Amino acid sequence: MGPVAPLPPGCYEETAAAIGSAMSERFCDVGMRVNGEDVRERVEARRTLVDFLREDLGLTGTHVGCEQGVCGACTVLVDGAVVRGCLMLAVQCDGTQVDTIEGLSDSGAIADLQAAFQRRNALQCGFCTPGMLIGAQDLLDGGGMPSRETIREHLSGNYCRCTGYQAIVDAIESIALTRAGKAG
Ligand code: FES
Ligand code: FES
Repeated sequence: MGPVAPLPPGCYEETAAAIGSAMSERFCDVGMRVNGEDVRERVEARRTLVDFLREDLGLTGTHVGCEQGVCGACTVLVDGAVVRGCLMLAVQCDGTQVDTIEGLSDSGAIADLQAAFQRRNALQCGFCTPGMLIGAQDLLDGGGMPSRETIREHLSGNYCRCTGYQAIVDAIESIALTRAGKAG
């Protein structure tokens, strides 16, 4: 076996016996700002961001679907950028600002989009909806009046198994128009 790389600062290894497991496990201390609140936790080095949010912080509005970056159910913002929570490790988010659907909803930032989704029946089971709303907000934050094609393209990484997308695009388009001051 070759030389073992040293653990980064803030990380350490627990033996299998110490944690009552079949294998030893690496843990790291991480700190981040989640929905405006400072969080410090000790996490397994291999823990994904979405598992950390859901299971350690109880923020279950972020969903887990494919776990391979395809469906968009786990979409969150890290330092303002849209990311797939299933493709990032919690330790990679050390020192960052993470915003989830709970934070966006509580702040009122997406209240108009949420109302439009409800009004236009843009959700059925709701599994994809948090990711859709974050994706839509990301698009509309860019300003301007996106075309229906642009809306579809922007959400092409967010799968909905229920609605057929028409109502989702309708809802987002209606809010794009409202925010652009073109509709009441
Ligand atoms: Fe992350 Fe599907 S669960 S993209
Ligand atoms: Fe069910 Fe989109 S509303 S997956």
